Amino acid sequence: MKIALLAGDGIGPEIMAQARRVLDALELSDLDLAEADVGGAAYRKHGHPLPDETLAIARDADAVLFGAVGDPGCDNLERHLRPEQAILGLRSNLGLFANLRPAKMFPGLEDMSGLKPEIAREIDVLIVRELNGDVYFGEKAMRVLDDGRRQGYDFMSYAEDEVRRIAHVAFRAAQGRGGKLCSVDKANVLETSQLWREVVIETAADYPDVELSHMYVDNAAMQMVRNPGQFDVIVTGNLFGDILSDQASMCVGSIGLLASASLGERQTQYGTFGMYEPIHGSAPDIAGQGKANPMAMILSLAMLLRHSLGLEDKAAQVEAAVAKALEDGVLGGDLGGTAGTAEIGDAVVARL
Ligand code: NAI
Ligand code: MG
Repeated sequence: MKIALLAGDGIGPEIMAQARRVLDALELSDLDLAEADVGGAAYRKHGHPLPDETLAIARDADAVLFGAVGDPGCDNLERHLRPEQAILGLRSNLGLFANLRPAKMFPGLEDMSGLKPEIAREIDVLIVRELNGDVYFGEKAMRVLDDGRRQGYDFMSYAEDEVRRIAHVAFRAAQGRGGKLCSVDKANVLETSQLWREVVIETAADYPDVELSHMYVDNAAMQMVRNPGQFDVIVTGNLFGDILSDQASMCVGSIGLLASASLGERQTQYGTFGMYEPIHGSAPDIAGQGKANPMAMILSLAMLLRHSLGLEDKAAQVEAAVAKALEDGVLGGDLGGTAGTAEIGDAVVARL
């Protein structure tokens, strides 16, 4: 089992070191780890945020564990040399089209949420967002009309195969969780959404064990704050998913606890090829101080074990160890606590 470890810059290397300790503690056999530079760290050494060698190492692996990038020292560089370009480059070069963002309320942290604690307590949702299509990638332009008015437009489209492949990912994820899938669209006004809904319904025939429902996106946004506990897995397009996944994250509270996966179509010997990373950035304001909460990074590792290596038991063990540490009051600065990066790593490893 080959894992590429791309720590990145800022707090990336600090949180990656803790994820690696957790990985060591699992004592997996046949594990082959390959480290490579990415983001600001790669720019400083090789003059590019995503060197060919890094891409080759990522391609060659069964999964990529990614820390964070966003070195402010690179802020004045041309856009293609900025650290964040590495994430986009990895996503497109590795064919990653499915973004999975779980948002779960950990017991005892309800006060961190902007929602009422009794509502926040129920949150345990996985948002599956399509990453390669939709209005972000359609034809777009800014033009001046004949009468002199400026007009901007962005073309929204989905082809059926694009919908089908993300639907399969979502149905499979639902099978591995609570067995419920809610497809979010705007089928009352958008043709794109009409097709989306038809294809999701067609795909459902392969998953009779999953309970499928549909919801308009405006209602979904409302339900996410009114009664988020009703959701198990949500599948949606790129634009709606961008917004809903950020909304769901903030309903949970802290940024230092939220993991994500970006999956491709390629199946490895053990599962689906993917890249796993915390949703937060490289937090330059606290980098190098041993203060970063490594839990989102460790939970990203758990997702990697689950989706790319087929190690559901190990994934669940890691998640349980993180939950137990939180329950025992091991809280980082992002959660109003005082535990440092290594201390949190220790706490998780001890509970494994
Ligand atoms: P950020 O997520 O890096 O930080 C926002 C705030 O949350 C900061 O106060 C930070 O200290 C805190 N924070 C973040 N992660 C934390 C952790 N694990 N433990 C404790 N506190 C944590 O977002 P920001 O400041 O907007 O961006 C910084 C850089 O990161 C930028 O260059 C941005 O482009 C980049 N970025 C990279 C991402 C990635 O690598 N996927 C995602 C988001 C931003
Ligand atoms: Mg967003």
